[in-house]
Amino acid sequence: MNIQLINDVKTAFINTFKTDPLLIFSPGRINIIGEHTDYNDGYVFPAAVNKGIVAAFQKSDSDKSTAYALDMDSSIEFSLETLKPSKQGSWENYVFGVIAEIQKKNKIVGNFNLVFKGDIPAGSGMSSSAALENSVVFGLNELFNLGLSKHEMIHISQKAEHNYVGVNCGIMDQYASMFGIKNNALLLDCRTVASKPYEIDFKDHQLVLINTNVKHSLSDSAYNDRRSVCEHISKLLGIKALRDATETDLEKIKGQVTPENYQKALFVIQENNRAEKASKAIEDGDLVTLGNLIYGSHNGLQHQYKVSCEELDFLVDQAKLNKDVLGARMMGGGFGGCTINLVAKHAIKDFTESTSKAYKEQFKKECSVYFVELSNGTHVIK
Ligand code: GLA
Repeated sequence: MNIQLINDVKTAFINTFKTDPLLIFSPGRINIIGEHTDYNDGYVFPAAVNKGIVAAFQKSDSDKSTAYALDMDSSIEFSLETLKPSKQGSWENYVFGVIAEIQKKNKIVGNFNLVFKGDIPAGSGMSSSAALENSVVFGLNELFNLGLSKHEMIHISQKAEHNYVGVNCGIMDQYASMFGIKNNALLLDCRTVASKPYEIDFKDHQLVLINTNVKHSLSDSAYNDRRSVCEHISKLLGIKALRDATETDLEKIKGQVTPENYQKALFVIQENNRAEKASKAIEDGDLVTLGNLIYGSHNGLQHQYKVSCEELDFLVDQAKLNKDVLGARMMGGGFGGCTINLVAKHAIKDFTESTSKAYKEQFKKECSVYFVELSNGTHVIK
């Protein structure tokens, strides 16, 4: 965890509200494989990381509550009785959405003050939004003794994103952020919302993230559109979700869907299989197979599901040129953010330097390289 970040948030809280806060850390996540499968009741393979949100809370005697986004130097005072979504794209929606969803469960939240700040680069595909939502629900649960279970909390966070932020996300990000286990990735079954931990030690290889530092607009609406396509095809197939379909099932309704939508559903079925195969490859210590599955995932995200972009494709193509990189793909919702790369440790320096140089030449802007540790989920900072 980032000590500087904790100190910044704590100091800002004490300076503003003259009292010691309850401090929460809520992590962002990576995802090894299994993209756009979560809202299809499928498998994903995420892990919480040592970057995230630090949030400071305390009850307030005032008849209003305050939330202060320290890194944006933006604060808002609001009444708990009249919550409604703020304008699209504003950070308040993550906070308001969580409170509103807690209220829907007939749990009483009193007035409070909140200061938060994060070290997950925005738009990086590492889920700063789920980290923020989870920090708020976790903090309020502690502060007001709401008695919510971790499962209830992640569903509150997810609903906040649906109803206040406007993204009909799956459960992967909130789950990984809440339930993360140090040094482990979680093979999560998004139907049962239960996971199996896998200790991640790739020996002479390591996961490296490279951020394109771009986030193309329309990504939210494209996300919701993809989800609708999947639901439409599930309906045609007479199943609950694409997780229940095989390629042969899909073939039977080929004439009833557009070729583009057919490819999208096919991607989901194949990606779900890849996630399961990846867990087997990790169990067997077979990194070559894992790497090929990761490359296969990107190929599908790029050509079938069509959620990549030229910057991400460029980074993956650079990886493919390097025999010391076993796999690379875009990570998260898409249209920007990071790639995740499985790289031989001895080659990391060469690979990241040559890729950064090539990226700069191609796009006249910098990419960023991150090394993350796999970490525990949302918790109180003692
Ligand atoms: C975003 C969503 C997740 C998931 C990924 C794609 O991160 O929040 O629920 O759908 O995209 O795998």
